[in-house]
This record gives sequence, C-alpha cells and structure tokens, in this order.
Amino acid sequence: MGEQSGVQSVNHESRTLSAEDVAELNRRFQGATPEAVLRWAIDTFGSKLALASSFGAEDMVVIDMLSKIEPPITIFTLDTGRLHEETYDVMERTRERYKVAIQSYFPGRDAVEALERERGFYSFRQSVEERKFCCYVRKVEPLGRALKNADAWITGLRREQAATRTGIGVVEIDASHGSILKINPLTDWTEPQVWAYIREHEVPYNALHDQGFPSIGCSPCTRAIKPGEDVRAGRWWWESPVTKECGLHLDSKHGDHGKSS
Ligand code: ADX
Ligand code: SF4
Repeated sequence: MGEQSGVQSVNHESRTLSAEDVAELNRRFQGATPEAVLRWAIDTFGSKLALASSFGAEDMVVIDMLSKIEPPITIFTLDTGRLHEETYDVMERTRERYKVAIQSYFPGRDAVEALERERGFYSFRQSVEERKFCCYVRKVEPLGRALKNADAWITGLRREQAATRTGIGVVEIDASHGSILKINPLTDWTEPQVWAYIREHEVPYNALHDQGFPSIGCSPCTRAIKPGEDVRAGRWWWESPVTKECGLHLDSKHGDHGKSS
C-alpha cells in the first residue's frame, strides 16, 4: 500500500465498482489462472494493493506467484501475539527466500491489556461471543488498520476450505472495509493443487503442515486433525462449523465482528 511503499499512485477504481462490474469480472476470470488474476490486480491497483498473509500453504503459493510478477506489492500479516513458533519460522524463511519486507500489524496495546486483565488468557474457550471478541481485538481491528489506505486486498481463500466459503468469488466487494475489492485468486483450487504447486516450485511452508495441521491460525485455537477429519476441524474445534470465521472474512450472512462482546 502507498503508506508503506511511499508510492504515490492513487486509484479508487474499486470503490466505484458496481455489483454488475464484479459479476462481469468473475465471468472474465472463470478458468483464468491465479497468475492472470494477480497480473490484472497489480496492473489495476498498483501500490494500493496488498496481500494478507498468515503464511499458510495457500498464502505461500500466492507469495511465490507474486515474486514472479513486477512490481512487488505489500505483504502484511496480523501478528496476534498468539501465533505458533513455526509460523514465525516460515515468515523468516519467506523474508530470506523472496527478499521481501513483511509488514506486521499488532493488536492495540490497550485493548489486549484490557482483554487479558478482564477476561483472562483463555477467554475464547468460554463462548462463541468471547472467541469472536478475542478475534476482533487481535485480528479484525488490526486488519482495518492494514487496509486503511488500500483499494484492494488479496487473500489465499479457497471455496472448498469451509462451509462458510463455498460462495466466494475470485473478485468481491468487501463491504466490511469501505467497499474496497477483495481478490481471491485461488478460489477454485483444490488442496492437492496447492501442494503440487508447493512441491514443484519448492516453496517454503509452515512445518506444522507436516504434523497434521492443514489450516493454521493462533496456537491455542489450532490443533492437528485426524485422518478423515475436515480440514478446518482443527480450528476452534470446540465450535460448530458454521461459526468458524474469525471476522476477517465475513459476509452479510455470517454475523457480526464480535466487537460489542
Ligand atoms: S481465518 O479467518 O480462518 O483465520 P484462514 O486461516 O483460513 O482464515 O486464512 C484465509 C486467508 O485469510 C489467508 O489466506 C489470508 O489471506 C488471510 N489471513 C488469515 N489469517 C491471517 C493473518 N493472521 N494475517 C494476515 N492474513 C490472514
Ligand atoms: Fe484469539 Fe484464538 Fe481468535 Fe487468535 S484465533 S485471535 S487466540 S480467539
């Protein structure tokens, strides 16, 4: 994004895209490669485009693809303060391999201090509302800051990842963040496609993936899955599959951000 990169280009195209424009783009990108979608995104949004990365397998694929397309874009991560050691390890390997700066966004200091003082260190286990509140403080509010100057952001979301994600488009209007554009280049990819790409291009990945973690979030809210379990069974495993979004990827059907808890 411009603020970090110092590049002055301003492009507010996304803010003026209508639902029809987005439907047309999704038709245009049907069957397009993720690389073609990324090329279009960079050409269209330039320095006002950023990748949100938790350095899971999908994000690593996108980072590798972006490394082959000029110019580079901002990569940011939401460092919740509760991440696994293995996640910091792959972030460091990513910096080294791709020679990129990773922009961390921390939760607000006062908010985390109040959260831990008033609700304890495992409040997220108490109820869905408490869990969403923790995700709000540690992820959603920082995401809002990360996207403040962006006109579009890229994610590694895939449709088959979750019951809550089956309807996502390659391009979406993100009503939660000022109607900027959200771009999901791997929407139609399957898990085997992700891993085939990682092997073929020798992409670095989080060591937890080899220990039964297909989906990796914060350490106390992520566990390994057993053979045959759903890929997101290890995320917030004490909750029902329909509540398993942390608020980064909401649509009108899936409730609030948990801010008011
Ligand atoms: S989550 O909402 O349940 O945590 P998931 O782990 O599946 O999401 O990741 C989906 C996409 O959300 C990632 O590909 C990435 O674009 C974004 N994302 C998730 N967690 C983070 C994070 N901590 N920092 C930046 N982006 C993230
Ligand atoms: Fe808090 Fe768990 Fe959400 Fe991380 S995933 S922000 S620890 S509730």
